[in-house]
Amino acid sequence: MQRKIVGFHQDQRREWVAELECGHGMHVRHNPPYQERAWVLSPEGREAFLGVAVECAACEITVRHAEPRDFYFVTSVINDWWDGRQMRDMLPKLFFIHFRETSFIAEQKDARVGFLNGFFSQTFPAEAYIHFVGVHPEFRKHGVARMLYEKFFAVARAKGKTRVRCVTSPVNKTSIAFHQHMGFEMEPGDDMVDGISAHSNYDGKGESRVLFVKEI
Ligand SMILES: CC(C)(COP(=O)(O)OP(=O)(O)OC[C@H]1O[C@@H](n2cnc3c(N)ncnc32)[C@H](O)[C@@H]1OP(=O)(O)O)[C@@H](O)C(=O)NCCC(=O)NCCS
Ligand SMILES: [Zn+2]
Repeated sequence: MQRKIVGFHQDQRREWVAELECGHGMHVRHNPPYQERAWVLSPEGREAFLGVAVECAACEITVRHAEPRDFYFVTSVINDWWDGRQMRDMLPKLFFIHFRETSFIAEQKDARVGFLNGFFSQTFPAEAYIHFVGVHPEFRKHGVARMLYEKFFAVARAKGKTRVRCVTSPVNKTSIAFHQHMGFEMEPGDDMVDGISAHSNYDGKGESRVLFVKEI
């Protein structure tokens, strides 16, 4: 989908983001030798790109509720999407049956490119929990996980929830960076792992976890 650039801003890390007419943002990084975009560094360079149409990947992505049939797809890709880590047993089919209201699939045309599985806490009425989120490696850094989270937040807010929690492993640096970018706070733990505050033995002996929380 071709969309015109209507403006620019810098994100929290001072990297340039092109604002597209559809409302989506697209990073336009100058990161040689991988991405050569010296023009983005000067006001004149950016000005020259106003009105130029670029391909907006986010526009082609739609998000829908998960269905039982999606379970088979997700279990077939989950270990690959997690770099070979064995994650399959952590996502049982019940999420695709009993938690459909809070589970989502992101699609580009007919291809599934992301998923999110969460639920509303039975114990804490104001809280919702995101158990899993995964995005196809070729579709990362295009806002797909953000779309899935926003959808989850919207559904949670509509049900009167005010807080979202999730838990990740200290080794999962991508997940930690992602949650920080999404505005989650780390709950202080009792241990430091690579500079990250972790809760030791949270999931059993030797199984430290990083706990995230966000008010929505
Ligand atoms: C974590 C994951 C879901 C992120 O998906 P994504 O679609 O690439 O994320 P988005 O493009 O929506 O990014 C949202 C924000 O997080 C940031 N982000 C995403 N991946 C990042 C990374 N590897 N390093 C730093 N920041 C990152 C983005 O820059 C963006 O912030 P911004 O809007 O301020 O620029 C994806 O990398 C993935 O599937 N990883 C493997 C599975 C996994 O670890 N899941 C999480 C644990 S349950
Ligand atoms: Zn768009």
